[in-house]
Amino acid sequence: MRASVVLATVVLGLCPLVAVAQAAPASPSPTHKLVKKSAQPSAALTPPMGWNSWNFFHDHVTDQDIRNAADQLVATGMRDAGYIYINIDDTWEGERDADGVLHSNAKFPDMKALADYVHSKGLKLGIYSSPGPLTCARYAGSLDHEAQDAQLYASWGIDYLKYDLCSFIPSVMEKQAPNDKAEQMRLMIDAYAKMDKALKATGRPIVYSLCQYGWDAVWEWGPSVGANLWRTTDDIQPNWLSIYSILNEQAGLAKYAGPGHWNDPDMLEVGNGRLTLAENRTHFSMWAMLAAPLLAGNDLPHMTPEVRAILTNRDVIAIDQDRLGQEATRAYSDGEIDVWTRHLSGGAMAIAVMNAGSDRNSSHPFHLSLAKLGLHGPLTGKDLWTGKDITLTDKMPIELASHGILLVRVAKPR
Ligand code: GLA
Repeated sequence: MRASVVLATVVLGLCPLVAVAQAAPASPSPTHKLVKKSAQPSAALTPPMGWNSWNFFHDHVTDQDIRNAADQLVATGMRDAGYIYINIDDTWEGERDADGVLHSNAKFPDMKALADYVHSKGLKLGIYSSPGPLTCARYAGSLDHEAQDAQLYASWGIDYLKYDLCSFIPSVMEKQAPNDKAEQMRLMIDAYAKMDKALKATGRPIVYSLCQYGWDAVWEWGPSVGANLWRTTDDIQPNWLSIYSILNEQAGLAKYAGPGHWNDPDMLEVGNGRLTLAENRTHFSMWAMLAAPLLAGNDLPHMTPEVRAILTNRDVIAIDQDRLGQEATRAYSDGEIDVWTRHLSGGAMAIAVMNAGSDRNSSHPFHLSLAKLGLHGPLTGKDLWTGKDITLTDKMPIELASHGILLVRVAKPR
């Protein structure tokens, strides 16, 4: 598939044992043929929405936190806005017994009971593992127990699996194929395909989410291993620099996303860290433009009304969930202002104008060029953050708060 892959060692949060395989120019890949063969078109027809424990709880998450999150998704109206998955990230894993069956640890005394509770709320439950012997937080991974683990998840009633590369790199790729990058890549792809097969063999629909940090052009081969989504980046952090640099890395990836198979620029940090109101809105808006999975990662029981209003903005969610599944592209940048557009079903269009500058209005006045978007003004649309109608005209001046956004849905662009 690929002649060369460059490996470089990095430290990844809790995972110092991970080595990074950087993308090298790809040789022609058989992705298209494989997509048809392997993708499950019925799973994740729109990007998955829900909540994941990692960004807020990290390794402290417990059964009770998951139950609380489930309660809150219902109480805050998030479930009804589309947030269906509650995903337990790393650190739920205990020991394997003599038969190799993995047990959850003391933080999760009864996973089946937890799944039943989550399901009783009209929600679905997700879980996390690694193709290596250890997860990123050094808990038990699924190596050599793939079928057994998949059956276990199905018996509990799991609906989603995040499968995180981590220790597979040093323990398998580098050990079995030292200095043979092509072989290392083959081992990785086989490992992901193996778990896909194991999940499908359970007969239970389980959304399959790859986490290998966006290396090795995963978007080219992710669908061929049955992935419904694949991480396109290193871990997100709750600050503007992280969010904006991830956003920029997504330019050019739109053609790889579509119903059933999505680029994943990582989970939401909305409501975390010290993100400003403008930054939270821009982050959420742009993840919706990117047709990203909307997996909130905040402290739901202590969410402010402002954060709740952002996460439950139905107009913005509708952009993310648009059934055409066509991800946004960056139309142009002018100084610190970036303009992205997304084609929506029914011929509609979403236009996002964002100010990446640290001053209001960026470093120079900005005038929107409709011509550069292939459009002619005036155009009537809806401003999705004020909820009011807005008319876009060619060369109109737009002033935005630092890290702020104007997000407009135009029903009939021309
Ligand atoms: C990696 C992943 C994160 C999270 C942690 C858990 O760093 O990229 O999203 O799952 O592992 O250990």
